[in-house]
Amino acid sequence: MNEKIELWFPTPIYYSDNVLGNEFKNKQETFLNHHYDTVRNDYMNVDTSHSLLDLNVHHLEKFQSVFDVIDQHVNTFAQKLGYRHKLKCETSWVNKSYKNDYLYPHVHSYALISGAYYIQSLKEDHIHFMKDIKDMKLLPTVNNDLNHRSISYSCVTDRIILFLSDTLHHTMKQKSDFKMTLSFNYK
Ligand SMILES: [Fe+2]
Repeated sequence: MNEKIELWFPTPIYYSDNVLGNEFKNKQETFLNHHYDTVRNDYMNVDTSHSLLDLNVHHLEKFQSVFDVIDQHVNTFAQKLGYRHKLKCETSWVNKSYKNDYLYPHVHSYALISGAYYIQSLKEDHIHFMKDIKDMKLLPTVNNDLNHRSISYSCVTDRIILFLSDTLHHTMKQKSDFKMTLSFNYK
C-alpha cells in the first residue's frame, strides 16, 4: 500500500488580531460616532450602509489610516494566493447590528478579496463560511481535515477576516446586543 490522498481546491481564510493596535480606541470612537445612511431588509437583516449609492467609507479622510492597514493585510493575502498586482478597495460599507440580527448566506460579486473588520463585537458571535450550501452528502462519523464543509470564526473586536469574494458566508442570529462591522471588497 502506498496510497496518497491530496487536498485540492482550498478555501483560504485569512485573519489577524489587534489590527489597529494603539490606534484602536481612537478609531473605534470615530467609527461609532460617524453617521451612516443605513437600510435593512430580510436578506440583510442588519442596519447596513450597503447601497448602490454609497459604498465609499474608504473615501472618507478620517478612515484613511484604517484602510492603509487593511490594504496591507489584503495585499499580503493576495500575494500568498499568487496575485501580483496591487489590489485596491472598490467598495466599503458599515453594518450595525443588534440582538437576533443576521445576514443571509451570500457571496460578494465583482471583486477578488472581501473581508470584515470588527469595530465592536463579542467573541460569542461568529461569521460562518460554507464550501457548498447544496452539499447534502452523508455526514462523516469523525470530522477531520479531509471532510470540512463549514468553518466559523469569532467576531473579535479589532480582528480582520479576509476571504476570496466568492466564498459563501453568513451570520446566525446575533447573541450580543450590539455589533459594528466594516466590510469591503478589493480587486
Ligand atoms: Fe458578506
